[in-house]
Amino acid sequence: MSLFAKMVLAATHNPVVRNAFVATPPGKALAGRFVAGETLEEAIAVARGLLDSGMAVSMDLLGEEVHDDATAAAAQQGYLDCLDRISQEGLDANISIKLTQLGLAFDESLASRHLDELASRAADLGTTVTIDMEDSRFTDATIRLYEKAQTDHGNLGVCLQAYLHRTPADLKRIASLGGHIRLCKGAYVEPEELAVQGKGEVTAAFARLLAALMAVEGVRPAIATHDQVLIDQTRLLANNRKAPFEFQLLYGVRTPLQRELIEAGFPVRIYVPYGSQWYAYLTRRLAERPANALFFARAVFSRS
Ligand code: FDA
Repeated sequence: MSLFAKMVLAATHNPVVRNAFVATPPGKALAGRFVAGETLEEAIAVARGLLDSGMAVSMDLLGEEVHDDATAAAAQQGYLDCLDRISQEGLDANISIKLTQLGLAFDESLASRHLDELASRAADLGTTVTIDMEDSRFTDATIRLYEKAQTDHGNLGVCLQAYLHRTPADLKRIASLGGHIRLCKGAYVEPEELAVQGKGEVTAAFARLLAALMAVEGVRPAIATHDQVLIDQTRLLANNRKAPFEFQLLYGVRTPLQRELIEAGFPVRIYVPYGSQWYAYLTRRLAERPANALFFARAVFSRS
């Protein structure tokens, strides 16, 4: 991760900055670019529009690092409601979840039970669950819970982060379970012992993993990047792939590219985040792009 991104994440984690930002109209406007709304209704309306343009979607009820049973249970219920709506409306959609939203930060068995119930309901409704990958405190537990749930239900996927040194081994470890494996660069601040740091090194690590993942026929690769170099490499590798794969992109990021990939005949799934807990998600999107962070700074300072 670049020094710039680290600085943005450090600044945005300050509670004073957070409070100044979430209350401002420019802050809410910037959130609106990356977040599909605060309610399930708003998010479903956005999802319908994307589906009409030929894309699939993954619905993400925002929230993370929950530290009590009631909040984890509320997130669980929110996801069950989302699955029911997906089914009622016949949408080509699945859900993306964060295990710390379901209790992983304080009770692994609780998170495992919630995951089990979500996978079971999703399977009944004919859809899947993707587990997002959070920061490295949770990598081991996330892989462990994925292995168990995927073995029991068979309708899951998990995200792997290219910047982590351990990821080639994790890919080998989980490839035999089938499922879908989302490959992304990684969005958290991680130390050198655990992750490569420079932008070029992260892209190179992604490219190596991309080649390995696209060669595994038994899984469905989900290539999650907006990086043109990596998109082009995926398109080349797709020529030799017999089994399905898909591109995944974030709602609000490189929208013309999303359309271009669909027009070229590739399967595209858009990650659609929604809900009131949007601040942490937004800070990661700001850190990815200097222009976003400048807009953020203007929003904070225009208020003070
Ligand atoms: P890079 O950051 O180099 O961006 C390439 C280009 O895309 C930029 O030059 C710019 O044009 C555009 N772009 C990228 N981000 C932008 C932004 N925020 N605003 C405007 N333009 C932008 N991470 C993680 O740690 N765990 C996870 O579970 C996931 N899940 C996930 C799902 C999906 C579907 C995607 C696409 C990404 C994730 N990520 C993630 C985030 C991922 O790790 C990474 O931080 C971002 O995708 C940005 O990296 P890129 O590969 O897009 O390259």
